[in-house]
Amino acid sequence: MDYQIAKGVFDILPKDPDEEGKWRDSHLWQYVEWVIRGVAFEYGFREIRTPLFEKTELFQRSIGNTSDIVSKEMYTFQDKGGRSLTLRPEGTAPVMRAFIEKRLDQQFPVQKLFYIMPMFRYERQQAGRYRQHHQFGVEAIGNDSPYQDVEGIDLLYTFLNRLGLKGMTLHLNSIGDQEARNRYRSALKEFLSPLLSQLSEDSQERFTTNPLRILDSKDERDQKALSGAPSILDFLNDDCKEHFSTVCSLLKKMGIEYNINPRLVRGLDYYNKTVFEITANELGAQNSLGGGGRYDGLIKQLGGPDLPAFGFGSGLERVIQTLLAQKAPLPPVPSTLLFMIPMGDQSKERCFELMTQLRRVHIPVEMEYSDRKLKSSLRYADAIGARYICVLGENELASGIVELKEMRTGATEKVPLQDLQKRLQHG
Ligand code: HAM
Repeated sequence: MDYQIAKGVFDILPKDPDEEGKWRDSHLWQYVEWVIRGVAFEYGFREIRTPLFEKTELFQRSIGNTSDIVSKEMYTFQDKGGRSLTLRPEGTAPVMRAFIEKRLDQQFPVQKLFYIMPMFRYERQQAGRYRQHHQFGVEAIGNDSPYQDVEGIDLLYTFLNRLGLKGMTLHLNSIGDQEARNRYRSALKEFLSPLLSQLSEDSQERFTTNPLRILDSKDERDQKALSGAPSILDFLNDDCKEHFSTVCSLLKKMGIEYNINPRLVRGLDYYNKTVFEITANELGAQNSLGGGGRYDGLIKQLGGPDLPAFGFGSGLERVIQTLLAQKAPLPPVPSTLLFMIPMGDQSKERCFELMTQLRRVHIPVEMEYSDRKLKSSLRYADAIGARYICVLGENELASGIVELKEMRTGATEKVPLQDLQKRLQHG
């Protein structure tokens, strides 16, 4: 068949036929999204949903023209009116656009927003990198306190913990303000320039376009060249140093372990001060379950008020894959409580009537519509995970009593039709 799914994207199905594809089962997504909504609400974040595409300039101005995302990975197209639009590669810029446009700062002095939205990046194909991925993200706007940073980090940490994930590492760094970064960039270039030919091809390019990005290259040649490189932490001004040390001591007090990693710089240009990432061992090279940081200058840069902000994004594909890899406890797959099998046309009508009544009181019931053999109906009921079945033939209609059979145990019990609802409401 010619109509195959595009590269790097996937379907989320009730049950993926491929064992390896279990992470795409929709009930897992519903579960994770349910946990997100609970945690985000408890931390005071309210949901925002932005359109799938924005004007291209929004991403160019915010993420930065030299970033991999803007220079290589955006899905940009012209609409029929000749405007350049881009499928959102990340959530921060669109949320800031909405914040500025709707003047949300006039509503509340601090806005705490969260989202669960698909993102689009034209990535080289590899495990853990998709061309459409889904992010749980939060953006807290209006607060420059280090407490806000710690609340954000703790929120991601709590979300992952509540899913039962273990053995994660929190990587923490401060990249200071623009001035510190400029000074650091010069120092790094000076350090790397005699080693330029030893760097990977990508990093040789980054040396001129965005040298800080060389720091988080995974290429061994780059890592080797970087040993002994200056640390950005030595370039911070007093304000940034104090902010960072408060973040660290608050995390310590909360019992959240962290690794200070001066090479963590992140791939988007808008950050300043605190940046962080949480990684999991199970994910291989693409091991970041989520990351983010402070971006105090972005709103002003986009034409809005001069307000500080902090946020993160967490990739749900990777979160769900880690859940499965770690065999974290999962909720049962929701399934039909009762599957009814009528015998003959008269009982089909009665069955349909009964099923409708039960559904009106929120009992999940299905019934057999076709006239296939009883054995096939039973096989189907088993396949959809129905907890009980009952067969409704002339005898049952005449006596007004059905036999409820529990599929898993085979146990049966006789139930008068008028008591069926009460019986099923007990589970
Ligand atoms: P990001 O690090 O580009 O940050 O993405 C956040 C997370 O999304 C990553 O840690 C990873 O879990 C997941 N992710 C990113 N790209 C892919 C991909 N191609 N396939 C699968 N998962 C992926 C941001 O996007 C920032 N907007 C986060 C943020 C919010 N910073 C402040 N506020």
